[in-house]
Amino acid sequence: MNKQIETVINYHNRTKHSLERYAKGPETLDWEDQPDQFRHFSGCEIITLPTPGAELEPLFADLDKPETIPAQPLTRINVGLLLELAFGLSAWKQFGPSRWALRCNPSSGNLHPTEAYLISTGADYIAPGVYHYVSHDHSLEQRCRFSDNLIDSDLLIGLSSVHWREAWKYGERAYRYCQHDTGHALGALRYAAATLGWSVELQADCSDEDIARLLGLDRTDDFKKREQEYPDILCRINTNCGISPPLPSGEACPELSRRGRGEGFQKSTNHERPQYIKDLIEAAQSGAWFGKADSLRAYHLYNWPIIDEVAIAATKPQTEEPAWQAVRQPLLTSRCTKTATAIIRQRRSAQQFDGKMSPMPQADFYRLLAAVLPTTAAFELWPWPPKIHLFIFVHRVDGLAPGLYALPRSPDALPTLQAATLADFDWQPVSDDIPLYHLDTGDCRVVVKTLSCHQPIASDSAFSLGMVAEFGASLAVAPWLYRRLFWECGLIGQTLYLEAEAAGVRGTGIGCYFDDSVHELLGFKGNQFQSLYHFTVGKPLEDKRLETFPAYGHLNDID
Ligand SMILES: Cc1cc2nc3c(=O)[nH]c(=O)nc-3n(C[C@H](O)[C@H](O)[C@H](O)COP(=O)(O)O)c2cc1C
Repeated sequence: MNKQIETVINYHNRTKHSLERYAKGPETLDWEDQPDQFRHFSGCEIITLPTPGAELEPLFADLDKPETIPAQPLTRINVGLLLELAFGLSAWKQFGPSRWALRCNPSSGNLHPTEAYLISTGADYIAPGVYHYVSHDHSLEQRCRFSDNLIDSDLLIGLSSVHWREAWKYGERAYRYCQHDTGHALGALRYAAATLGWSVELQADCSDEDIARLLGLDRTDDFKKREQEYPDILCRINTNCGISPPLPSGEACPELSRRGRGEGFQKSTNHERPQYIKDLIEAAQSGAWFGKADSLRAYHLYNWPIIDEVAIAATKPQTEEPAWQAVRQPLLTSRCTKTATAIIRQRRSAQQFDGKMSPMPQADFYRLLAAVLPTTAAFELWPWPPKIHLFIFVHRVDGLAPGLYALPRSPDALPTLQAATLADFDWQPVSDDIPLYHLDTGDCRVVVKTLSCHQPIASDSAFSLGMVAEFGASLAVAPWLYRRLFWECGLIGQTLYLEAEAAGVRGTGIGCYFDDSVHELLGFKGNQFQSLYHFTVGKPLEDKRLETFPAYGHLNDID
């Protein structure tokens, strides 16, 4: 086996939680020593963005058909809104003397390892260059000034992760959570862009090295040792073109189609970078750079070298990516009448659920599942065939027997999943509208709570689920696909979070579960399939002890 693939698989196996032991993490936590959630670069020009909190007209339900949403002009106000709705603050919470911020994008442990950068190639709203977004202040720090406008006047967003921020609390398993968070951030960006009538296009062929050079992450002297950022994703935001229109109504369509060069990708040894990326890197390299990252304050009591090892093994080279996209299909209609901006800003994780809730309406449950199929507008930015499938523990859904269900996210996966799971699962289709299959009937609340590190959020909800990846086959192709599997999970998770809010309930991501016990319950053997993320949805119980404050009230205080 290729050494890098072996390193990634070893990392994955070693960071499994089990009933007998949790993955290796710090033995003690000094909360005073928590890493700063907000990165600042000292020595940069700061560009204050227009006051956050503006409402836009599109309803959340309109995002199913993004081509019907008028594209907003590329102005500083709208770029500010994009950043706020994707990565900005959504509220402050306070309990006694403790006060903490929540953001539009969720994060495991609220540690927020993801950093966001904006690259302007030359338009009126901001001078061409690279900017770091500071969600706390809703401002941009200019890291690089390009000497010239590039021909293409575009907007790009880059994402990176400070692994150590997450490892401070979660130790070795933290690298997985950083990848989930990247997927969530990508999802948050997609919803924010769609609300503005814009779309997100992944620059998937870029190497990590290229992204690092572009965002200035390779400037090691600008970062304190062990607080460096790792490049993840580069996206182009299309601000004046809609997403590809849906099929004319009534036209028969295959559920998934493969366009272009097929579904694999090829590592490109001598593949030329697109001219556009070349120009950007050249502009970054010849530009003037400013600032140094402030220390994240904490001392580094624990060391997790395995995270550095897996990060190196899963580094992505330049690749030639296929032009693949699922064909959009009509989606079960959302009953939500709220605006998209309201849903995005009200998203929270439920801390507790009402275990006595009346069953969730079946139509809402089906809509929620339909929304994570790759044939929806939300997944049009994901240019690869789906590799993640859902196994759902239904506790309280109208008209459905409690028990275990499956939602293969592609028809191709159905026979493989059937063959790999327990022989006595019945795999009976239960809906004409979505590929949902009944596997087994029974009350699984106690089991699921135990499997989810004994967390009641998995059992007091309407349903909880495991996201099962086509793991072995993906990794056999390339080690860095490990990260992409987690990103796909995060993207699904972000959709579930927002759809839950739209259905009047609430979701919570679950990163803590006993990996191999889940596999055993489902019948999976070996590493062909692995459960990479869990999620739960139900009626939240508010913690009345917590006070809530507006997201950006502190900016007014400063004024
Ligand atoms: C990848 C991931 C894993 C998470 N795992 C858990 C979990 O196991 N248990 C839990 O109670 N919350 C979990 N959460 C929820 C976070 O704690 C929550 O997102 C964070 O506190 C921020 O709060 P917010 O989502 O309300 O903004 C997870 C969130 C993410 C994104």
